[in-house]
Amino acid sequence: MQTARIMEVLNVAEYAAIAAAEWNGKGDKNAADQAATEAMRQAFNDIDFSGRIVIGEGERDEAPMLFIGEELGRGGEEIDIAVDPLEGTNLCAYNRPNALTTIAIAPRGALLFAPDTYMDKIAAGSAFAAGGGLHIDNPPAENLRIVAETLGKPVSEVNVCILLRDRHEGLIQAVRAAGARIRLIDDGDVFGAIATAVPGTGIDLYLGSGGSPEGVLAATGLKAIGGFFQGRFDFGSDEKATDKRRRAEEMVVGTAIDLDGVLERDLLVSSRDAAFIACGVTDGEMVEGVRIDPSGTITTSSIIMNAADQTVRFIKTIRRGDSGLVRF
Ligand code: FBP
Repeated sequence: MQTARIMEVLNVAEYAAIAAAEWNGKGDKNAADQAATEAMRQAFNDIDFSGRIVIGEGERDEAPMLFIGEELGRGGEEIDIAVDPLEGTNLCAYNRPNALTTIAIAPRGALLFAPDTYMDKIAAGSAFAAGGGLHIDNPPAENLRIVAETLGKPVSEVNVCILLRDRHEGLIQAVRAAGARIRLIDDGDVFGAIATAVPGTGIDLYLGSGGSPEGVLAATGLKAIGGFFQGRFDFGSDEKATDKRRRAEEMVVGTAIDLDGVLERDLLVSSRDAAFIACGVTDGEMVEGVRIDPSGTITTSSIIMNAADQTVRFIKTIRRGDSGLVRF
């Protein structure tokens, strides 16, 4: 994909972030999500491309916009798109760090067509790009031993990011028993997984289950910056599980995906030509949130991770409108 195409998609992420930021701290996560989704859809439809949502807001019958399979754009180059228009709806609603608008793009057929179900995940930085022994099926203590040994520090200095959820009680206990540190996050595991490959965050390993859409988005970012990712679908055991599994079976027909198997990073994102784009809604460790100047100027901060040319770009965009001031 050309850089110009990626910049067009950056514009989409920015519009969605600006729309969501109207709801920062207003306590209404659904309104924030809807604003981001509407803005994202409208901006995608202004692009001269044939976009197809492979990861989106849900199935056609449950999501009015950006549903899986929705076609976007005015026609042209065929691109597959994974979106989480507002990653961390609660983070935005309560004005907590790291709410992002997130998009991954790749040529048609290169991104997993993923059902909206849970995914067990493990992610780590570039020292583990080839695996180095890390595996989603290893006991946590074994993965921690490998991380410590590879990074040349004691297990007690290894920092693991885990979503704060009841289902992770056993995992948290196991990590603590092994002696490692834990960074518990309320929400936002796209950031949590990608942060493992960004040394300044201090996060060495991501473990636990979260959304599978977020898994594909994180895998794209980690592919671009040379990190490690493995996932495995978790369809759960409630009354919806059979239905989700059946839908997933339909989606993966003709692909190499084993619904019970390990989903390697390059199975989730099969082309080298893929990009992950995120724009900050609230302030975070990777990017700042949306800023609106009293003069009307809107500033957004985004990151583009491009696997094709192995670049990471931090982009600050200033929209001054008719009369806004630009400050340096
Ligand atoms: P939303 O933005 O949809 O609220 O998702 C936030 C999130 O924390 C994701 O980052 C994560 O993958 C998922 O929720 C985990 O799901 P759950 O909240 O059901 O445990």
